[in-house]
Amino acid sequence: MQNRQTNQIFNFDKFPNFEKDIDLKQRAWIEVKGKAIEANVRQLRTKLNKNCQFMAVVKADGYGHDAKVVSDYAIRGGASQLGVATLKEGIKLRSSGVKKPILILGNLYTKRDLIMCFKNDLMPTISSIRECFICNNIGKQFGLKFSLHLKVDTGMSRLGFEGNKFIQQYEKIKSFDNISIEGIYSHLSSADEENELDPKSITQLQRMKFNELLKQINLDRNNEIKIHLANSAGMLLNKDFHFHMVRVGLSMYGYSPLAKIEKNLLLKPALFLKVKVAFIRNIDSGVSVSYGGKFVSSRKTKLAVLSIGYADGVPRNLSGKINVLHKNKLYPQVGSITMDQMMVDITGSNEIKVGSTMVLLGSDGDKTISPLEWAKKSNTIPWEILCSFKNRLPRVQVD
Ligand SMILES: Cc1ncc(COP(=O)(O)O)c(C=O)c1O
Repeated sequence: MQNRQTNQIFNFDKFPNFEKDIDLKQRAWIEVKGKAIEANVRQLRTKLNKNCQFMAVVKADGYGHDAKVVSDYAIRGGASQLGVATLKEGIKLRSSGVKKPILILGNLYTKRDLIMCFKNDLMPTISSIRECFICNNIGKQFGLKFSLHLKVDTGMSRLGFEGNKFIQQYEKIKSFDNISIEGIYSHLSSADEENELDPKSITQLQRMKFNELLKQINLDRNNEIKIHLANSAGMLLNKDFHFHMVRVGLSMYGYSPLAKIEKNLLLKPALFLKVKVAFIRNIDSGVSVSYGGKFVSSRKTKLAVLSIGYADGVPRNLSGKINVLHKNKLYPQVGSITMDQMMVDITGSNEIKVGSTMVLLGSDGDKTISPLEWAKKSNTIPWEILCSFKNRLPRVQVD
């Protein structure tokens, strides 16, 4: 082979073929503890009545954890259904061998997408009579019933039939021969806000509206149709929100969306964000660090350069606000977080070396750094932190 820069001829056969076996932990990576997911599902299920089903919400690649790993362990913990956002996510999960019912929580509105949904044994969320007609025609074409969930809007103003229209159109929908209504559901907009147990709160009003709609359509108690309303926060509020199934994301991954939570509910974070130290340098007092010179050392400082940045999904607005863990000790991140790297003040540490592993999220020893902390400091929500991690970070399953 010829080197393109120098035109020298190389025989690469003499070099070991490391590319064949790329080290996933070479730079920065996410460790996923499947057993934590399994334990969380088991624990959360103890809050449900015996017949109440648990849908594991694994959209956005399992909140950034790896949807297949999360699904497998959630099923081991007792999840009986899975929820994804898109057709592509559903097809990927089906083709990876997952057998449980999968509901697409986003909206499919073209015949083409609904055919793909049907062929891949996925259930769509239906929010209009027009979509019911399409599904019924598809069912007819294949001589089968198309299984789907109907969604009603109770205050989120996103997907779902309008309440009054739903009551008017339900009889018509029931009369379609090639549709099988597997579920009727709605979604809570504010259950993670405080004071949602107040009878006048948005969440309680949504629950009442949902109950009223169900009453109006005279759902037979013995009906097989699954009624569901609660996300993690709704589920943790109380049993009035449980109905036949709960759809749980955040708390299954190990984080409570509620500020106040039962002391005996011990959720285990399943995600650990780790990084290698790529370089170490010593700077004098008065030296600026990173873009914009926002940080200037006030003493002789030892810096570790970590191989992770905002292109990996660490929010840049956390610059100078977070700590990084190494063997039970916290070290402050300093200067602007750059696209691929960030600096940490490790002054006083003789243990941290080039090639050492540091922890950005998760625990090392007794200390833990949570995405909830990052979310607060970054003025966002933990869901966004988890979903922001890019594919450049390999997901490594550890158990
Ligand atoms: C329709 C629906 N149900 C359930 C969930 C799960 O929510 P959480 O992660 O708060 O449990 C989501 C997540 O956004 C959702 O969109």
